[in-house]
Amino acid sequence: MPQAAQCAIVIFGASGDLSQLKLVPAIYELVREGLLSEKFALIGYARSNQKKDGTPLNDQTYRNDCYEAIKKNARHKPIDEALWKRIQDKIYYVAGAYDGVDDHARLAAALAKADQAHQCGGNRLYYISTPPDAFEGIISRLGERLKSDPATGWKHLIIEKPFGRDLASAIHLNEVLHKYWTEDQVFRIDHYLGKEALQNMMVMRFANSIFEPIWNYKYIDHVQITVSETLSADDRAGYYDHSGAMRDMIQNHIFQLMALVAMEPPVALDATSIRDEKVKVYRSIRPMRPDQIDSMCIRGQYGAGSYMNKDKSVPTNGYLKAKGVPPSSMTETFAAIKLYIDNWRWGGTPFYIRTGKCLNRKLSEATVRFRSPPLTLFQKQHEATVYPNDLIIRVQPEEGISWRLNAKVPGGTLNIKSVALEFQYKTAFHVEPPEAYERLIYDGMIGDQTLFIRADETEAAWQVIDPIEQHWAKSALRPQEYAPGSWGPQKSCDLIEDDGRRWIQDNDGEAEPIIACSL
Ligand code: BG6
Repeated sequence: MPQAAQCAIVIFGASGDLSQLKLVPAIYELVREGLLSEKFALIGYARSNQKKDGTPLNDQTYRNDCYEAIKKNARHKPIDEALWKRIQDKIYYVAGAYDGVDDHARLAAALAKADQAHQCGGNRLYYISTPPDAFEGIISRLGERLKSDPATGWKHLIIEKPFGRDLASAIHLNEVLHKYWTEDQVFRIDHYLGKEALQNMMVMRFANSIFEPIWNYKYIDHVQITVSETLSADDRAGYYDHSGAMRDMIQNHIFQLMALVAMEPPVALDATSIRDEKVKVYRSIRPMRPDQIDSMCIRGQYGAGSYMNKDKSVPTNGYLKAKGVPPSSMTETFAAIKLYIDNWRWGGTPFYIRTGKCLNRKLSEATVRFRSPPLTLFQKQHEATVYPNDLIIRVQPEEGISWRLNAKVPGGTLNIKSVALEFQYKTAFHVEPPEAYERLIYDGMIGDQTLFIRADETEAAWQVIDPIEQHWAKSALRPQEYAPGSWGPQKSCDLIEDDGRRWIQDNDGEAEPIIACSL
């Protein structure tokens, strides 16, 4: 990949978790790999001028924080001290109100200085990683300067999720953006699109001729997507209680995954063609009538118990007892939905989706289950279940693809077993895929929007979610409680089992296939 042009990066929300966990380490990795020129500057911008413990926040203490963040969270450890020495003086901190006119003037002055000191060439990558209520102020203040700023160079704006909390607020935010910015300067981020397995989805589907002829309702029985997390929402309930699983995961990450499974082949691999196809998927989703929502959309809340995190059992008093959660909160920590994509490819094929906190395992995968062959051939001689074929696209952990087929167990009697052909990135390519944020920050710098969400795409996704959220907001039906460490509420199993199907992983487990071949 070519090196991105020199630039100054500004992170709004510099003292937040995302910045320290992902963004700063990703920028370090990009410099380490030579993908970002050493002619760069990084300005952390946040409201406070001191930390919670009273330590002042300034260039030096922010540099120390960045050093610690890289040391702890970079992909390549230990930190390259020589590189750090070269880059530490390029890091600055500005404290100011997110919508403060004078504060933005100070930021502009700091950027002008950085241009001189580090030859950033007037190029800017602004990264908004703040709570959503600060988005509008930052977008407007930056936008006003953009209009009057004589500086040369490109200006790109990355915006973290959540992009709105419903259709109306997303439309409003897009209007605010478009007052100052052109769409090709705006990069709405969804870090799932930076994950290798999602990028591979199009290659798998469209660079292999075996899939396209069978990738439709005639051969596929259903698609199921599970994005399960083991961690609770106990520590971030302040944010989470205003969001819930549907807004936090389904409207963005899971819909992106689903769109890549379901979309038509794009006419070209450019950002416009790919995003056009994803929008068509969202627009083809069958609208739900209010009287269907309770049976097609299940919400759950974890109760008290314990869940496993990194081999350790962690107790929780349950979501309703978490700090900052009102005891009567109806916010869902789990959601499962059944959708239909009404187009010629998918007519009648259900897409089952589920996600939640405090579940049994951390897992993100899409399973394409093919229709069973007519079993009359084997029924007479074979007692045990013959599994249908599954194609499992695993996003994490262990990114890869697993094909499940049936094979005869060697021997005299007809004994059929499910076997898996496994492809894993780690073993096939002997490389660890880069962190999603590395790829996305790099793309933001070079101006490639393919892995970012377009204005109409986010609106089309909200259009699907809005009626469900509106129904839930009015409904007196509480989210069903589920045990931490389980696979979610019973109703989410009923959702799929009532159709004569089942989740690949559920509380009853499933016979694991024999690994027949591993790449
Ligand atoms: C974030 C959500 O966008 O994605 C979090 O806000 C969630 O609630 C996270 O934990 C999951 O990301 P990943 O990459 O760990 O699957």
